[in-house]
Amino acid sequence: MMELTDRFYRRFARSLSQHTLLYTEMITTGALIHGDRQRFLRYDPSEHPLAIQLGGSNPKDLALCARMCEDAGFDEINLNVGCPSDRVQNNMIGACLMAHPQLVAECLAAMQAEVDIPVTVKHRIGIDEQEGYEVLHHFVEQVRQSGCKTFIVHARKAILQGLSPKENREIPPLRYEYVYQLKQSFPELEIILNGGIKTLDECQTHLQQVDGVMLGREAYYNPRLLMEVDPVLFAQPSPFQCPKQAVQAYLPFLQECLQEGVPLGHITRHLLSIFQGLPGGRLYRRHLSEQAHRPGAGLHTLVDAMEHVRLPQQPTETK
Ligand SMILES: Cc1cc2nc3c(=O)[nH]c(=O)nc-3n(C[C@H](O)[C@H](O)[C@H](O)COP(=O)(O)O)c2cc1C
Repeated sequence: MMELTDRFYRRFARSLSQHTLLYTEMITTGALIHGDRQRFLRYDPSEHPLAIQLGGSNPKDLALCARMCEDAGFDEINLNVGCPSDRVQNNMIGACLMAHPQLVAECLAAMQAEVDIPVTVKHRIGIDEQEGYEVLHHFVEQVRQSGCKTFIVHARKAILQGLSPKENREIPPLRYEYVYQLKQSFPELEIILNGGIKTLDECQTHLQQVDGVMLGREAYYNPRLLMEVDPVLFAQPSPFQCPKQAVQAYLPFLQECLQEGVPLGHITRHLLSIFQGLPGGRLYRRHLSEQAHRPGAGLHTLVDAMEHVRLPQQPTETK
């Protein structure tokens, strides 16, 4: 998610769940080819398994970028066919490509010809006046000819004129049944459902119908949910007993970033919600958001903020 799933967030998210597949923000081919490539491709080795998402519609450019991504060590490359923003529509990036399944197939074919890692696509169920399951079926039918085997479906359509990107994540109704039907129609494809999922119970319900689930906002704004993912969905122990341990374990990484000159607030903004709903969680959040941008802020700012949090049944700390 743009502005959210940067390497600082992902490093934290990975510490909370060892088994979830993480995704970068969307990176356009233009940014990778002409921009600060090192910055866009940077990640911490602990982030694996890690997918990078590309935005673009020029097969040659996408193939070139796919090569860069594979060389950089990403585990999967995903093509964005779901972003409704005007800015990207003008460049034929994102959800507007739902109207051009042949071009999407060409893009995915060119990328797959260039790399060995999986190339996947994330898309909507339709755009604008496109209605009904048949539109989605037709899109996937054409795009799968590229050899792409994994389709991540945001189960609502996008309205490209008249709704903001935010509204396009809220107003068009969710149609989970279309995604379920897609799996029935194409049992050989890996179908991943996205959109509006808030709990792991919901994940388990969807997983009876599809191959996987993707969480966006809930994974970001309610990061403690990630601590439950390994035990509940992967039958593996949670990496931490409590969220304080998770933040403490993040401190050495935070310190390295500060030494490189990354401003504290760029990193700690991703930690603001970790104690939400717990005793002292609000004071923690306020302390961190008010103090992190002040001169002299540092590691101690986060440590001090954590002092506000009073967790029931904290495990005894060894000194
Ligand atoms: C701030 C923000 C930025 C987003 N950026 C991207 C993006 O770069 N690529 C993408 O595929 N989806 C992006 N999304 C959409 C989410 O990935 C997801 O499809 C959508 O929010 C619905 O899922 P959710 O209800 O689990 O959040 C973004 C969402 C938000 C809130």
